[in-house]
Amino acid sequence: MIHFVPPHLEKVRAKVPDLARSVDIVLGNLEDAIPADAKEAARQGFIEMVQATDFGQTGVWTRVNALNSPWVLDDITQLVGAIGNKLDVIMLPKVDGPWDIPYLDQLLAQPEARHGVGRPILIHAILETAEGVKNVDDIAAASPRMHGMSLGPADLAASRAMKTTRVGGGHPEYKVVADAAGDGPRAAYQQDLWHYTLARMVDACAANGLKAFYGPFGDFSDPLACETQFRNAFLMGCAGAWTLHPSQIDIAKAVFSPDPAEVAFAAKILAAMPDGTGAVMIDGKMQDDATWKQAEVIVDLARIIAAKDPALAKS
Ligand code: GLV
Ligand code: MG
Repeated sequence: MIHFVPPHLEKVRAKVPDLARSVDIVLGNLEDAIPADAKEAARQGFIEMVQATDFGQTGVWTRVNALNSPWVLDDITQLVGAIGNKLDVIMLPKVDGPWDIPYLDQLLAQPEARHGVGRPILIHAILETAEGVKNVDDIAAASPRMHGMSLGPADLAASRAMKTTRVGGGHPEYKVVADAAGDGPRAAYQQDLWHYTLARMVDACAANGLKAFYGPFGDFSDPLACETQFRNAFLMGCAGAWTLHPSQIDIAKAVFSPDPAEVAFAAKILAAMPDGTGAVMIDGKMQDDATWKQAEVIVDLARIIAAKDPALAKS
């Protein structure tokens, strides 16, 4: 999970050393949700937080302000100058097209060279404008600096004039209704508003060796809906999601780790086809070269997670 922290709040910053042990990535948010009059304080707070904390294996990311905002140039030059060697990834909001990526690439290259940053800081784009969705394939292919992409359902809803005030998740009115049969009640089934965009983003990322993430889920009072949104993303190929509230950390951890029963079955497939070719039957289900590769995805993920988390390794 990519856990969002508002770095202008000292109370929140004080919790970061503990937090860093329980999440995969700590992201200092400088963009939306940070009041305009706290932008400098957030940037400075993030710098102090990163300088003061040993993050171990936990990733250190920031979400900078949009490229057309008055703050982004200072965000980039000050962050790279002060903490460039500890900053892994810059999340770039409101990416409209591939042109935004080489622009940020060069903006990063200048202070990186000046301050002797030893490895390139990567770029993670938020897919949250209609134009960005139209250009998603080109954005994914825009630069070797690209780390991945996240779906931003709130800005995207506004950009598309979708008639919802929700941040991610379903909507009870987005549904299909069964044909009328007499006077009885007609079944209706809610549909997934995000399926199309998520699928396009996952394909663009996979085709370019990038990681896809679901973004924010805004209703903290509905953990089941959050879990469901995260699971749909996981099943469709996403590596993780954002967590905006501490209660979402355990949800993300559980959802984005493969089910132990599924891992056991996948391991059985790999063992039954040691060279990955041919066809066998396991528990009545046909397996071949393609299902061997599906099994490998699950087993590889289980290995990565087990190496990171001893409790999950046991399960
Ligand atoms: C995230 O930034 C969103 O707009 O949903
Ligand atoms: Mg947004």
